[in-house]
Amino acid sequence: MKKPQVFVTRKLTDEVIAMLETVASVEQWTEEYPIPRELLLDRVEHVDAVLTMLTERVDEELLTKAKNLRIVANMAVGYDNIDLAACKRHGVVVTNTPDVLTEATADLAFALLMATGRRVTEANRFLLNGEWTSWSPMLLAGQNVYGATLGIIGMGRIGEAVARRARGFGMRILYHNRNRKHQAEEETGALLVGLETLLQESDYVVLLTPLTDETRLLMGDREFSLMKETSVFINVSRGGTVDEAALYRALVEKKIWAAGLDVFQIEPVPPDNPLLSLPNVVALPHIGSATLQTRVEMAKLAAANIVAVLSEKEPLSAL
Ligand code: DGY
Repeated sequence: MKKPQVFVTRKLTDEVIAMLETVASVEQWTEEYPIPRELLLDRVEHVDAVLTMLTERVDEELLTKAKNLRIVANMAVGYDNIDLAACKRHGVVVTNTPDVLTEATADLAFALLMATGRRVTEANRFLLNGEWTSWSPMLLAGQNVYGATLGIIGMGRIGEAVARRARGFGMRILYHNRNRKHQAEEETGALLVGLETLLQESDYVVLLTPLTDETRLLMGDREFSLMKETSVFINVSRGGTVDEAALYRALVEKKIWAAGLDVFQIEPVPPDNPLLSLPNVVALPHIGSATLQTRVEMAKLAAANIVAVLSEKEPLSAL
């Protein structure tokens, strides 16, 4: 009998490919840039499974083309690149990679928070530019992290992991979420509040919600105007949750103090995005889960989901 076929949209480790080859024949896109759409549509035409990244759009057009498709295994916890309703209509299973990236992403969120609050990248540029001529009392003075109030918007697994870190920094923790998280409250002392209260009282606002119709452009002029002039905004969710023009205005008009961004409306972010010109913006290229260990675990989980479905078993992390 002919083996099922899998298409992998980026180069992954030999170990991951070997996992897939136990049940299927595997084709990979091996370039360092995303597969062009037309080629992707062509490659998925006869496959039974596709292992995607957040750079690939899985929509009605692709699903209509990929007639044999049984599973889309997305190598990300976020899945806003996938039309779930269309997958359901076509009887295609969708999986993501939760849990394995929680701690690494929380580390990055906290790194960004600290780098922004304490002006780490600005200070580094200052030194490298030869501008450091003397120690000075207020030179590159930032905001306290220890003891500050942290507001987490979106208290999922990553939010809870950020709260655990914040506890070690003696922070007061507020969160805004659709439902109450009793265990996180017990573990970290976090307090459920309305969005307005969170924005008004937090010194650091960390956005961690998935991108959905409800959260698209969640942060706009009104929300930034509620924040303190000394507060820092951090986005580790998706760029689509923030009105970037409003954020730029808030920073320039000094309604907020600084921003740390791992995600952008358009990725890769165009170098002429005005936010990149501001000294009080720490910008990163969507590296939330990017540790060697975590990326390997994400790829393995995505592959294990495909192996399960192609072996008529339950996937490990179906949506
Ligand atoms: C995710 O998993 O959704 C991240 O944004 C990429 O690792």
